[in-house]
Amino acid sequence: QSFFKPIHGASPPPPTRRTTKISVIGVGNVGMAVAQTILTQDLADELALVDVDQDKLRGEMLDLQHAAAFLPRTTISASVDYSSTVGSDILIVTAGARQIPGESRLNLLQRNLALFSTIIPPLTAASPEAILLIVSNPVDVLTYVAWKLSGFPPNRVIGSGTNLDSSRFRFLIADHLNVNAQDVQAYIMGEHGDSSVALWSSISVGGVPILSFLKRQQIAYEKQTLEKIHKEVVQGAYEVIGLKGYTSWAIGYSVANLARTILRDQHKVHPVSVLAKGLYGIDDGEVFLSLPTQLGRNGVLGVTNLHLTEEESRQLKNSATTILEVQRQLGI
Ligand code: NAI
Ligand code: 2OP
Repeated sequence: QSFFKPIHGASPPPPTRRTTKISVIGVGNVGMAVAQTILTQDLADELALVDVDQDKLRGEMLDLQHAAAFLPRTTISASVDYSSTVGSDILIVTAGARQIPGESRLNLLQRNLALFSTIIPPLTAASPEAILLIVSNPVDVLTYVAWKLSGFPPNRVIGSGTNLDSSRFRFLIADHLNVNAQDVQAYIMGEHGDSSVALWSSISVGGVPILSFLKRQQIAYEKQTLEKIHKEVVQGAYEVIGLKGYTSWAIGYSVANLARTILRDQHKVHPVSVLAKGLYGIDDGEVFLSLPTQLGRNGVLGVTNLHLTEEESRQLKNSATTILEVQRQLGI
């Protein structure tokens, strides 16, 4: 029985209807920022939320559902059971421990490692064709762990990586030069964390390569100014965590931005954490870290071949070594 009457001669609906489904695992600060950005940006027909905290889960679901009159139509479900995520196009994992003020991301590893062995197998079994997008920290190591646990091909396992750090970088450069951050093309690569690498040599603003422009105009720029901006990128998360206890809004937009590129097959380049083996001179083991990556409906379509200075290349290899060292210490 339907509220609407069928028009004369209408055919029945096709047996398979293609809808877009995103699942968000973990409905804490980050999961909810991701969920609400996905809803406001109309990225999915179905949104499935999963958490171990049943009351919070139901509370968050109802709170989002109560906004239905102001949002595009999306079916929102919430369950502690992974079968609710079946048939997802993207699985976004935000569950797990977060840093307390002053704590590093890598320090979370032991706690979140145990969690991942309970989350990833049932999740990927329910949606064997999905793209797995990891956000929980330390994101690079956990993306590697998720890849191993899932048995997925590496193109379908992505860490949100330095998509967020690069936005912080672009904001700070834009603020410094009084331009629009969307006109600033600039990448942070490597670890999403303390050993991240700022690619100064390839920054452009409105298509103008910035370092050579400053040199040509004989405008003095201080290496220290550049280093200060990168330091602010690295310290940014620590500062926000120190002030409000956690970070949420920027990562929410960052992840929704990745989901859009993937679901709409945008072939856009994002700095995200991917299997870096054999790329940019990283030959020493299996490591996930952020490289400028073209993303689309099949996940990773390829990695761009940016020219790095010797210094940048050395820093990137150091970042890989930092992550690999942690993996080796844990025997993973
Ligand atoms: P939170 O403490 O607010 O939320 C964590 C949620 O995970 C809680 O709702 C908890 O019940 C849930 N959870 C715990 N065990 C679970 C399980 N087995 N299955 C399902 N859900 C489970 O933490 P917050 O602030 O949301 O941070 C989440 C993670 O995201 C942290 O690891 C944090 O470091 C990371 N993060 C990563 C960023 C990135 O750029 N990659 C940015 C910001 C945070
Ligand atoms: C962030 O960078 C804490 O990884 C988290 O916001």
